[in-house]
Amino acid sequence: MEGDRIRCLNKLLRALILGLTLLQCVNPSLSLGFKNISSGGVMRCIEREREALLAFKQGLVDHYNLLSSWGREVHKQDCCTWAGVHCSNRTNHVTQLNLGWSSSPKAYSQSLQQKRHPQYITYAFQGKMMSPKLIELHHLKYLDLSWINFNGTRLPDFIGSLSNLRHLDLSFASFGGRFPSQVGNLTHLQYLDLSFNYFANAENLNSWLPHLSSLTYLDLSWNNLSNVPNWLEIVSKLPKLTNLTLYQCGLPSPAIHSTTLFNMNSSKYLTHVDLRFNRLTSSIFVWLSKTNASLVHLDLSSNQIEGGIPQSFSKLCNLQILDLSGNNLSGQLSWLVQILMSTCPDQNSLEILSLSSNHLSGSIPNLTKYSSLKELLLYYNQLSGTIPESIGQMPNLECIDLSMNALEGVVSEIHFSKLSRLRYLALSSNLLALNFHSDWIPPFQLVHICLRSCKMGPYFPKWLRTQNEYAYLDISNAEIVDILPSWFWGMTRNVTYINLSNNQIGEMFANLTVDFVYHPKVQLSSNQIEGPIPPTLARASCLDLSNNKISGSISILCEAYNGLLFLNLSSNNLSGELPECLTHLDNLVMLDLSYNAFSGKIPSTVGSLYQMKTLKLRSNRFVGEFPSSFKNCTSLQVIDVGYNKLSGRVPKWLGVSLQNLVIMMLSSNNFNGSMPSELCRLTNIQNLDVSNNIISGTIPKCLNDLTVLAQKGNSSPILQHLYQRDDFFDGVGYMDDATFVWKGRMHSYRNTLGLVKRIDFSSNRLTGEIPSEITDLVGLVSLNLSRNGLTGELPAKIGKLQSLDALDLSRNQIHGRIPTSLAQIYGLSVLDLSYNNFIGKIPTGTQLQSFDPSDYAGNPQLCGPPLPKMCGDQQETPISSNEEEKDELITWGFYVSMALGFIVGFWGVCGSLIFIRPWRYSYFRFLNTLNDWFYVRVILIKRHFN
Ligand SMILES: *[C@@H]1O[C@H](CO)[C@@H](O)[C@H](O)[C@H]1NC(C)=O
Ligand SMILES: *[C@@H]1O[C@H](CO)[C@@H](O)[C@H](O)[C@H]1NC(C)=O
Ligand SMILES: *[C@@H]1O[C@H](CO)[C@@H](O)[C@H](O)[C@H]1NC(C)=O
Ligand SMILES: *[C@@H]1O[C@H](CO)[C@@H](O)[C@H](O)[C@H]1NC(C)=O
Ligand SMILES: *[C@@H]1O[C@H](CO)[C@@H](O)[C@H](O)[C@H]1NC(C)=O
Repeated sequence: MEGDRIRCLNKLLRALILGLTLLQCVNPSLSLGFKNISSGGVMRCIEREREALLAFKQGLVDHYNLLSSWGREVHKQDCCTWAGVHCSNRTNHVTQLNLGWSSSPKAYSQSLQQKRHPQYITYAFQGKMMSPKLIELHHLKYLDLSWINFNGTRLPDFIGSLSNLRHLDLSFASFGGRFPSQVGNLTHLQYLDLSFNYFANAENLNSWLPHLSSLTYLDLSWNNLSNVPNWLEIVSKLPKLTNLTLYQCGLPSPAIHSTTLFNMNSSKYLTHVDLRFNRLTSSIFVWLSKTNASLVHLDLSSNQIEGGIPQSFSKLCNLQILDLSGNNLSGQLSWLVQILMSTCPDQNSLEILSLSSNHLSGSIPNLTKYSSLKELLLYYNQLSGTIPESIGQMPNLECIDLSMNALEGVVSEIHFSKLSRLRYLALSSNLLALNFHSDWIPPFQLVHICLRSCKMGPYFPKWLRTQNEYAYLDISNAEIVDILPSWFWGMTRNVTYINLSNNQIGEMFANLTVDFVYHPKVQLSSNQIEGPIPPTLARASCLDLSNNKISGSISILCEAYNGLLFLNLSSNNLSGELPECLTHLDNLVMLDLSYNAFSGKIPSTVGSLYQMKTLKLRSNRFVGEFPSSFKNCTSLQVIDVGYNKLSGRVPKWLGVSLQNLVIMMLSSNNFNGSMPSELCRLTNIQNLDVSNNIISGTIPKCLNDLTVLAQKGNSSPILQHLYQRDDFFDGVGYMDDATFVWKGRMHSYRNTLGLVKRIDFSSNRLTGEIPSEITDLVGLVSLNLSRNGLTGELPAKIGKLQSLDALDLSRNQIHGRIPTSLAQIYGLSVLDLSYNNFIGKIPTGTQLQSFDPSDYAGNPQLCGPPLPKMCGDQQETPISSNEEEKDELITWGFYVSMALGFIVGFWGVCGSLIFIRPWRYSYFRFLNTLNDWFYVRVILIKRHFN
């Protein structure tokens, strides 16, 4: 089943595979492409070569004893029988040395199957040094040293003496230093793979690469070629090249008017061109038009190609794979398809067409002429109209992804009439309605079903009963108003992901017992589900039951799967005390029990959930103090215990131990005592809310230590967590949300949460002055100190808070004049200074006059517009000319607050858990992330070996 999913996605997989090889388990003993060549009892090995090999072995650290067959002992003397060594049976010379991992294609699939143990990523060998005796192997034709970690050392020059080499694979070998020009001496080379090393100074490429005139295969991926503007000219000098892979090399686009580009004699035999993840523009097409029509595989995804494709594409009659996803292609899809189809008499070789993540518009044309098409990937464009019924006449289709377009109309049986091979169907996030006859038996068995936001209801889709192989099912937001049929869970034994959220699915749990093979991710939020949590669902690895009517206790969690990563039970009717037994859930990253009726103390065992990043217990009836065991949860980034009956002092250790906190919500409890100055050590905090407690004392002066609040901008708009330890293809993660008062109203934030930098100390018993250090928090977007007993004057430099959108100081005893600098906060849209003891004139000539008089009310000695009370002359506050000049200035803060206003209004009510499926939704961005991650991983591995 996994295999099918992989086959269906093989286009995407191909992109991922390099990452995966690192990401997933690599078990070297399984993957080495060793051959066992029997010598037939005759000793063939030439002694000089044996010594050379043994010297070479000395330079390796053989962690797994893979070279145990290499030795001087009598029974080992025939080096032609050694693992990875191959001799000519005519001359007995060593002709092949294959210690590489990548040379075994099976290794890829093995690593995919074993991907549940990514922690075993490792290199087969550590390369301490490469013995110069290797040059004794004059007759070597084949040398594969990929995946030997040479730890940033230079590739020795003597490699250039192995003049018989035909095949050289040094991929993933962590070589560093200059690009190895000595390779240019290997003029017989046909195959050269230098991908994934740390070679620098590629400027010399032109001095050696063109010497390799026999080269048919070239892969320089991941080496930085951004400073080789004539790279295309250079590779075009290789007359026999068939396969060219320059994946993520920072390739600049060839200048479109360059004469070389037009006069170039491109390699005539190119069949495979992979230039993904570069900076190419449409000028690359000029070159492609020079190649002959032999191209079989063309991958230009994730570049900067704009517009359409040129007519020259029409002669690429052998094309099997075309991937232009992740560019800026625009125009009508049908024009593009017309070019591809126009001249070739039987354009039926195309198997994979990926145009995802572009700006293509128009409707989907009749594609039946592509009778070989297996994968049609058009997601994330602007396609409209209906899906043509002719798609149902393409019997080879295995994979259809049309998600995230504006397709409309009804999808029916006709669209699938001949699609017996379909395994992967994704139509999510369009305007489609799926309408099948209730006893329709589809011709296909799907493995991946992604129909989010397709209208399927009101009845639960019956045809799903015929699908008993699926691993992935998303029919969320499908307008289903039904109970879950009794057969449903019976089909889910092998699933890894189920999403039925945002429907109106009622009671469903009668006798639910499924023996899940994999611990699936189950999302059932925002339905009408009643009753207790069924024990079976505690076997999930992620469980979201939020926003239902689930009741009872959660003692069931005592038997929960200890790999549970994510648990959201918020907004239900759950009650009782939290069980003490949670200690075994030490993989839990996110726990949300908000908006239930839990009571009692928070058990100290919660402190053993030390991986936890998000903990939300908001709006329950918890009492007592914060258990000090929370100190151990040092990964916590979000903590929300607001709206409970917690008491005691705000613990000092919060600031000392939980230094990763970004959001801390303690609002509306009974916390007392003073504000510990240790809170100032929360250097990552962005959202600090202790409002509505009984906290007394002064505001700590050290607030300016809150580093993130003291910086403008710089934060990502979302707070997102990905779990890398989990099944890679499900790329599970979630985005945090938080709920708090914004401009007087309660809002939930998700998509802009990271932009909200706020402090809310309102409704406490704080006294003393507002420390002037607070004006260093220039990133603050909202500051609320209202309803306390603050005295003194407002810091004169309050105007430094240029990002402020909302400032509420009402109901304190602040006195003195309103500092003129306040008028310089141009983005301020909410201001409340009412019920203080401000005196004098409200600074004029600025937007301070545009606020409502009520925002200044209750300050009897305050005067001037917008208050009706006029000032006497002696109270006039002079305005500096400086301020007048700046009057029209629109600041960054203003834009942020505009954006916030809009985005929050629009997104504020978004759903809960998000399982990020980036390879579908933003394939291109995801791969960037992957590559970053990949890079980090390489570094980590390096460190490990260092
Ligand atoms: C060498 O071995 C191969 C198979 O390994 C065989 O096909 C070939 O005939 C042999 N050549 C000689 C000269 O023995
Ligand atoms: C490579 O070839 C050049 C001459 O073409 C020669 O000077 C140099 O020594 C050779 N390098 C090696 C390592 O054989
Ligand atoms: C070269 O490209 C062709 C066509 O895409 C492909 O079938 C072949 O496997 C590639 N060769 C290698 C060595 O990867
Ligand atoms: C689609 O095109 C094929 C020929 O390419 C034609 O036979 C068929 O009738 C067309 N289908 C529709 C619905 O237009
Ligand atoms: C790797 O290289 C670094 C220097 O770059 C060195 O300190 C370290 O010892 C090397 N590690 C191994 C395993 O050789």
